[in-house]
Amino acid sequence: MKMKMDQNEAKLQAARAAIALLPESGTLGLGSGSTSKLFVDEVGARVKAGSKYRGVPTSQSTRAQALALGIPLVDDDVAWDIVLAVDGADEVDEHLNLIKGGGGALTREKIVNHAARKNVIIVDETKLSRRLGEKWAIPVEVLAFGVEQTRRCLAELGRTTRREKDGKVFVTDAGNAIFDIAVGPMDDPSIIDRAMRSIPGVVETGLFLGRADLVIVAGSSGIRTLSR
Ligand code: A5P
Repeated sequence: MKMKMDQNEAKLQAARAAIALLPESGTLGLGSGSTSKLFVDEVGARVKAGSKYRGVPTSQSTRAQALALGIPLVDDDVAWDIVLAVDGADEVDEHLNLIKGGGGALTREKIVNHAARKNVIIVDETKLSRRLGEKWAIPVEVLAFGVEQTRRCLAELGRTTRREKDGKVFVTDAGNAIFDIAVGPMDDPSIIDRAMRSIPGVVETGLFLGRADLVIVAGSSGIRTLSR
C-alpha cells in the first residue's frame, strides 16, 4: 500500500535529491525558505565530513544557518562563480516558471539565481499548478521611498496587500517593503512581469521566468525531476 508522504517529509526528500546533483566541490547558491533550509543542513553535513563547498546565501537567515553549520561563505561584494544554486519555490507551472518570495528574499534569490551556472528548484508536489497565480499572489519588493505611490500603481494590476509579519510591516534584508499582488491565473506571466518592472520603485518581482533548469518534486508517488 502506498503511504501518503507528509509535506515536511516531501521537502526533505526533495532536498536530499538535490544533494545527489552537487559537484564534488565549488561555490553553491544557498536558497531561502523551509525546503532550502533542509538542503543547507545537508550541505553542512557534507562540509563537516570534508567536502569543499562554499556558499552564497540568499538571505540573512540562510547566512546565519550556514555560518552555524560551518559552511564557508563567499563575500557579498565580489563577483561569484556559482556552479549550482538550489532554492525552493511557492508555485511552479508546467513550463517551470516560478513564483518565489514567500519568505521575502526574492531579490537576493533572483540575483543568485541569475549568477548561477545551473539552478535546481526543490519543492513538494503541493507547489505545482497549471498556470502561475492559481495559488499565490506575486510578491514584489518595493523601495521605501514613495512606497504608497508605488502601491497605487501596482494596485492597477491586482489586489495589493502589504506584507506583514508578526503584526508588523515586513521589511526585507535590504530595508524595503513587500507587496503581494493577487493577479489570478496568468496565461503569459511575462506580460505582468514587464508591467510590474516598468513601475519606478519596484526593485524586483517574485516571477522567475525561465530561470529553473531542473525542478525536483517530491510527493506521494516519489521523486520526479522536471526539466525544461
Ligand atoms: C523565500 O523568499 C522563497 O522564495 C522560498 O524559496 C519559497 O517561499 C519557498 O519556501 P518554502 O520552501 O518554505 O515553501
